[in-house]
Amino acid sequence: MLHTADVPLYPMPRDTERCPFAPPSELAEIRQEAGLRRVRIWDGSEPWLVTRHADIRAAMASPLVSADTDNPAYPHTSAAIKARRARAKTFFTEDGPAHDEPRRALARDFTAKRMQGMRDVVQTVTNRCIDEMLAGPKPVDLVEALALPVPSVMICELLGVPYSEHDRFQELTKVFTAATSTPGDTVAAAEEMLEMIGAVIDAKVDSPTDDTLSRLVVEQLNPGRMTREEVARMGLLLLTAGHETSANMIALGTAALLTNPEQAALIRDAEDPAVAAAAVEELLRYLTIVHSGARRVATGDFEIAGTQIRAGDGLILDFGSANRDTDAFTGEGHAEPHLLDITRPARHHLAFSFGVHQCLGQQLARVELQVVYSTLLKRIPTLALAEPLAELEYKTDMSIYGMHRLPVTW
Ligand code: HEM
Repeated sequence: MLHTADVPLYPMPRDTERCPFAPPSELAEIRQEAGLRRVRIWDGSEPWLVTRHADIRAAMASPLVSADTDNPAYPHTSAAIKARRARAKTFFTEDGPAHDEPRRALARDFTAKRMQGMRDVVQTVTNRCIDEMLAGPKPVDLVEALALPVPSVMICELLGVPYSEHDRFQELTKVFTAATSTPGDTVAAAEEMLEMIGAVIDAKVDSPTDDTLSRLVVEQLNPGRMTREEVARMGLLLLTAGHETSANMIALGTAALLTNPEQAALIRDAEDPAVAAAAVEELLRYLTIVHSGARRVATGDFEIAGTQIRAGDGLILDFGSANRDTDAFTGEGHAEPHLLDITRPARHHLAFSFGVHQCLGQQLARVELQVVYSTLLKRIPTLALAEPLAELEYKTDMSIYGMHRLPVTW
C-alpha cells in the first residue's frame, strides 16, 4: 500500500461559509487529472477515489466491483458505521443473489406506479404540516415542522411501523450517521432499533395488515425463507434510509430555492407538474446529500480511466463530484453545473447511485420532494430564511449531508 505525503485525506472539508451547497473545491481539480488518485481514510488505508461521472458509471457497472462489507479490504466510512453494518448487515452490503433476492422481495412495494399512487397521502401529510406551521408562531424550524415529519410519516405508513415510535427512531438514526458516534453507540442503537422493529413484526405474525413488514412476514418469515432477524434488519434499513435522506433533501433543497428566488418562482408559478419534477432532479444533482462517497472493493483486476485497479483495492465513488462534472452536465442553453438551473435535463445524475444498488426508495423520495417543494412555495409565497445562510449549522460531520435546523419566516 502507498503511504506518500501527497495522498489527500478523504472526505475533504467543505467550505460552507463560501457556499453550503458546494462539494469540496479540491474535487473539481481532481476531476481534471488523468487517471485516478488514491486518498487516505480514517483507518490509514488508501482506496482509489473516482470523481468523474463516466468513470463512476463504468466502475458501478463492473462485475469485479463488490459492495460486500465482509471483505477485509472494504473501505468503510468510519469505525462506527463499520460496526453498525456488521451488526445489521442487509442486501445493501451484499453482492449477487444475496443482494438480488431480498431486493426483489421488496421492489414491488416501491415501484414508480405504487409511489405515484401515494401522492395524495403525501399531499395530505404535507398540507397538515403546513397548516400547523401557519397556525403557530414564527419563525419556525422547517426541519422539525416539515422536513422530518413528512418522510417519517410516509415510511411508517408504508412499512407498517406505528408513527408513535418516530421520536426514538429519528434519534437512533442520528446516532447512526453522526461522526461523533463510537462503534459502541451505533451497535447499541442498532440493537434498540432491531428490538423495536422485532416487536412490530411479532404483532404482524398474529394479525398482518396491508404494509411491507406484514407482506415480508406472510411471504418470507412464515414459509421460512427469512428469519425474524433478517426481516427486522430490512425494516431497520428501510426505516432509516427512508426518512433521514428525504428529510435532509427537503431542508437543504428549500434553503437552496430560497437563495435562488428566480428558480423558486419557476416552481411557484408553474401549473405543469413536470416543472417540479425537473426541479427535483436538478436539486438532487446539485445537493447530492450522500456526500461521503459510496464504498466498494475490487474483486479482480481491471482498468478505470487508464488506472490499473487490482483485486483487493478499495474504491470510493464520489457522487457529489460526478454530479458537478461538466462533461455530463453542461448542455446547450443551461448554466454551468456549479449553478442551480431547474430547467436543466438532470435525470442522469448519480444522487441515487448507479447499477444494482441504485436507491430502492427513489420513486418515493421523488414524490415526496415534488409535493413538498411545490406545496410549500405555493402556499407560503413569502417564505424566507429567518437567519443568514452562512450562520446556520450544516451536517458536514455526518454521513448524509443536510442542515441541523432551518429557521424560516413569512
Ligand atoms: C432523497 C432521498 C434519497 C437519496 C439521496 C438516497 C440515496 C441512495 C444512494 C446513493 C444509495 C446507494 C448507495 C450505494 O450505491 O452504495 C441508496 C440505496 C438505497 N436506498 Fe436510498 N436514498 C434516498 C431515499 C430513500 C428512501 C425514501 C428509501 C426508502 C425506501 C431508500 C432506501 C434505499 C435502500 C433500501 C437502498 C439499498 C439498495 C440496494 O442496495 O440495492 N432511500 N440510496
